[in-house]
Amino acid sequence: MMAPHASCFLLAVVFSMSCKAITSLNQMCTEKEANSTYNCENLGLTGVPDTLPNTTEFLEFGFNFLPTLENTTFSRLVDLIFLDLTRCQINWVHEDTFQNHHQLNTIVLTGNPLIFMAETSLNGPMSLQHLFLIQTGISNLEFIPSQNLENLESLYLGSNHISSIKFPENFPTQNLKVLDFQNNAIHYLSSEDLHALEKTTNLSLNFNGNDIKGIEAGAFHSKIFQSLNFGGTLNLSVVLKGLQNSSIQSLWLGSYEDTDDQDLTSAMFDGLCEMSVESINLQKQYISDISSTTFRCFTQLQELDLTANHLNELPSGIKGMKALKKLVLNVNIFDQLCQISAASFPSLLDLSIKGNKKKLDLGVGCLEKLENLQKLDLSHSDIEASDCCNIQLKNLSHLQYLNLSYNEPLGLQSQAFKECPQLEGLDLAFTRWYVKGPQSPFQNLHILQVLNLSHCLLDTSNQHLLTGLVDLRHLNLQGNHFQDGSISKTNLLQTLRSLEILILSSCDLLSIDKQAFQSLGKLSHVDLSYNNLMGNSIDALSHLQGIYLNMAANNIHVIPSHLLLTLSQQSTINLSHNPLDCTCSNIHFITWYKENLQKFEGSEDTKCANPPSLKGVKLSDVKLSCGITAMGIFFLVVFLFLIALLLIFSVKFLLRWKYQHI
Ligand SMILES: *[C@@H]1O[C@H](CO)[C@@H](O)[C@H](O)[C@H]1NC(C)=O
Ligand SMILES: *[C@@H]1O[C@H](CO)[C@@H](O)[C@H](O)[C@H]1NC(C)=O
Ligand SMILES: *[C@@H]1O[C@H](CO)[C@@H](O)[C@H](O)[C@H]1NC(C)=O
Ligand SMILES: *[C@@H]1O[C@H](CO)[C@@H](O)[C@H](O)[C@H]1NC(C)=O
Ligand SMILES: *[C@@H]1O[C@H](CO)[C@@H](O)[C@H](O)[C@H]1NC(C)=O
Ligand SMILES: *[C@@H]1O[C@H](CO)[C@@H](O)[C@H](O)[C@H]1NC(C)=O
Ligand SMILES: *[C@@H]1O[C@H](CO)[C@@H](O)[C@H](O)[C@H]1NC(C)=O
Ligand SMILES: *[C@@H]1O[C@H](CO)[C@@H](O)[C@H](O)[C@H]1NC(C)=O
Ligand SMILES: *[C@@H]1O[C@H](CO)[C@@H](O)[C@H](O)[C@H]1NC(C)=O
Ligand SMILES: *[C@@H]1O[C@H](CO)[C@@H](O)[C@H](O)[C@H]1NC(C)=O
Repeated sequence: MMAPHASCFLLAVVFSMSCKAITSLNQMCTEKEANSTYNCENLGLTGVPDTLPNTTEFLEFGFNFLPTLENTTFSRLVDLIFLDLTRCQINWVHEDTFQNHHQLNTIVLTGNPLIFMAETSLNGPMSLQHLFLIQTGISNLEFIPSQNLENLESLYLGSNHISSIKFPENFPTQNLKVLDFQNNAIHYLSSEDLHALEKTTNLSLNFNGNDIKGIEAGAFHSKIFQSLNFGGTLNLSVVLKGLQNSSIQSLWLGSYEDTDDQDLTSAMFDGLCEMSVESINLQKQYISDISSTTFRCFTQLQELDLTANHLNELPSGIKGMKALKKLVLNVNIFDQLCQISAASFPSLLDLSIKGNKKKLDLGVGCLEKLENLQKLDLSHSDIEASDCCNIQLKNLSHLQYLNLSYNEPLGLQSQAFKECPQLEGLDLAFTRWYVKGPQSPFQNLHILQVLNLSHCLLDTSNQHLLTGLVDLRHLNLQGNHFQDGSISKTNLLQTLRSLEILILSSCDLLSIDKQAFQSLGKLSHVDLSYNNLMGNSIDALSHLQGIYLNMAANNIHVIPSHLLLTLSQQSTINLSHNPLDCTCSNIHFITWYKENLQKFEGSEDTKCANPPSLKGVKLSDVKLSCGITAMGIFFLVVFLFLIALLLIFSVKFLLRWKYQHI
């Protein structure tokens, strides 16, 4: 008789303890949007806390403990639209769990070891569109209750043990747009399997990480896909043969570092002639016998991605690739730009050769046949050139965007981009460059809007460096230095009359002349963070209104009261991480700050540094009373009284002494 009692008692203790834990944790659901969006993740909850309002629409409830879901679990939250139950140790989903949730659109059951889902467990929602069953231990598609899935658009089934994609006959697939089978055990695709998907249109189908070993001939016949992903398939010939007569917008055939796949041969791509594809990604593959005939069946392609294909050249004599609009050749081993045989791709609009693993020589006119090119990315490619860039970029008269960031030193001629008068965006960040002539390298770039010159070690004393940029809106000068840490009255920014965004963070600035930005009347965003500026540099902005001003992490102690007008004109100000003075010398600013808190961002980190007693206190919490305090008045009165007393006594003493000596 004793033992059961004892265990009952223990149980009661445990229960009351867990109850306590739960009620105390209840309070911690975070509200992201009042009455509608809540996050209750990882709170050890075993049910919906009472504190959640009935009107909750978006609920993140992952990492709690809900071994069974039933019609009472969420019955109160009838307005749910989105419900995330990731890793809640759910085993059972009972009948009519969501019967009252007519608005429910998305259910996430990722990472739950599901044992059973009742046939009616997903009934209720009028339009359930997204269902996540990733890592739920599913091995057979029969497991998914199909009664109420007529409107399903995406079904995520990654990381399960599924070996066949054959849906049950009554499974409603007609509205599916995304079907994701990543990392399952699917090795064979039969015509019958794919037949169930016949009613879908524009489907994105993902077999990434399955290693498909066989596809029945004709399985994909006259099927149309938005995208197909066969990443990580070891024998790509299987795929390229198997997709005969299909039509695919985007085909992903890349590989991964860790897979030990076979080299591709040109013959494998013959399959491409038998299907219609717009875009192919062959990332991290290696074509062992690459030649111009490799590309025989690529003629209809509009996009080709050959990232990390160990390419040191593309063969010349590739014919017929006139449809290609975008070519990605990142992370290869070209020595010289001409080795990409650009002339084979005359319609190219977008070319990317970034992260080349060797020093890339730009050569002479290597891209001159690409007269339509609009975008060129040559970043991170160890490019070095002493006389840039007109012979290198010859004939690129339609280029709008050029990225030369993270390269070796470049010597820029005056009018270095004369060949590309249409440039709108130029990125030279982290590339040290120097001018070779007396004039601005950018002179003819009349429509350039965005220029990134961050960390270029610019010669900022050259006042003509940026002349000609009449339409420049966005200039990034982060990490450059100015003589004596000061931007003077005459400076290289003066001609940039259209400038709206100016970034001067981390420039080691100590001061800015009051008139330095006088000609920049259109500024709307000024970032001066991470410098050593004092409060008086704010004077340089007195002619501006409604701007975003970032002066975080400077050396501002005191803001003189005559500058408060300038600050009050602006829309958002960031003064965080400054060593602000919270003494009476700064009282005007502090008072004004507290009245205008809504203007400031980062007020959590806007703190006092002085006096030591207030160090680390948020400026918004400081209470200063300057002027004379009651205590002060008391002492003053006592002091005056004592003096008066002393005077009376000394007069008395003096008179007595005088009389005694008469
Ligand atoms: C949230 O609900 C409460 C009570 O129904 C209501 O007073 C409040 O205005 C609501 N707040 C919002 C932002 O809808
Ligand atoms: C849940 O189901 C049981 C039996 O199926 C039923 O008696 C009960 O009314 C249901 N509860 C709710 C809240 O619908
Ligand atoms: C929330 O819903 C429950 C059950 O539907 C109901 O009993 C309760 O009164 C509702 N609460 C509010 C504040 O409306
Ligand atoms: C197909 O889907 C893609 C995105 O998944 C969409 O951009 C495209 O417009 C759709 N095409 C058609 C014909 O519905
Ligand atoms: C592809 O289509 C052609 C013509 O419609 C047909 O003759 C051929 O058998 C089809 N191939 C496969 C594998 O379905
Ligand atoms: C790849 O698959 C094709 C058939 O599609 C087969 O002929 C070839 O032998 C396979 N290659 C290897 C290395 O298994
Ligand atoms: C330069 O581009 C023009 C068209 O803008 C084209 O006709 C010409 O062939 C190109 N020049 C060279 C040398 O390719
Ligand atoms: C230029 O390339 C660098 C590095 O690849 C990248 O971080 C940057 O965003 C690119 N610039 C633009 C304007 O896209
Ligand atoms: C340069 O600045 C532009 C515009 O702010 C930005 O898009 C680009 O990513 C920056 N480049 C680098 C390398 O950070
Ligand atoms: C204030 O500026 C600093 C430095 O740029 C930045 O790290 C911080 O995020 C900004 N604060 C807010 C709230 O945006």
